[in-house]
Amino acid sequence: MQWICGRIDVGTYTLSVVEDYLELSNQAADAVQETLERRPDAAITVPTGQTPLGMYRELVRRVENGTLDVSRVHIFCLDDYLGQGRDHEASLTRWLYNEFLTPAGIPDEHIHQIPSTASDPTAAAARYEAELEALGGLELAVVGLGPNGHVAFNEPGSAPDSRTRVIDLTEESRQQSAAYWQGEAEIPHQAMTMGLGTILSARKIVLIVSGEDKAEIVRRSLEDEPTLDVPGSWLRQAGDRLHVILDRAAAGALTAR
Ligand code: PGA
Repeated sequence: MQWICGRIDVGTYTLSVVEDYLELSNQAADAVQETLERRPDAAITVPTGQTPLGMYRELVRRVENGTLDVSRVHIFCLDDYLGQGRDHEASLTRWLYNEFLTPAGIPDEHIHQIPSTASDPTAAAARYEAELEALGGLELAVVGLGPNGHVAFNEPGSAPDSRTRVIDLTEESRQQSAAYWQGEAEIPHQAMTMGLGTILSARKIVLIVSGEDKAEIVRRSLEDEPTLDVPGSWLRQAGDRLHVILDRAAAGALTAR
């Protein structure tokens, strides 16, 4: 185990333990709605995966019934496989379009795809950061937690001040992605991810985690000293800008209740 510091003032974050996945999804949707009511043209980032599906369903429902306006929001994609973009079947960008951006009717010119197919990824990643900065930075980052503690594709070893960049995927993350790919050999070994530091600079961060499979990595993220081994453990650096929403199952291993 490698510590960055022995002791870190992580401030106080808000922890909501809710009854079930439906309530988690509704609370996460509330956080998006609250942000857009306060600042309709906010730049926000939202995750891919199983966890946010309920939040997307709820957000689309609110758009359809006229209680949520997403016409001015700017969406920055969190991550995608290196060399894959929206036109690839297993692309995370494509997934986000299918599950949220298209059904919610978010204007295409407000969608900022992570430049995972750029010929010069380093320069493109820097431009992506500058594009976000020009819009005032992230007002809200909704993120999930991987089984190995990754946040977006910030894998173990990612520094808390890291920015958008190319990263090597761990075998664990590749296996987690397997369901989206035709075969093991196809799963890319690298991705482009928004950095932990970029996420940590958001004015509000909402971490959503569901299910007992994640209970131990949630405990390590919230109760152990921040460590490079568990990228999620750095989120507490955001102090009172962090809101953690867990269902009962994901909160099951927490000792401090
Ligand atoms: P999941 O992925 O929601 O599919 O569990 C979370 C993540 O890896 O960030």
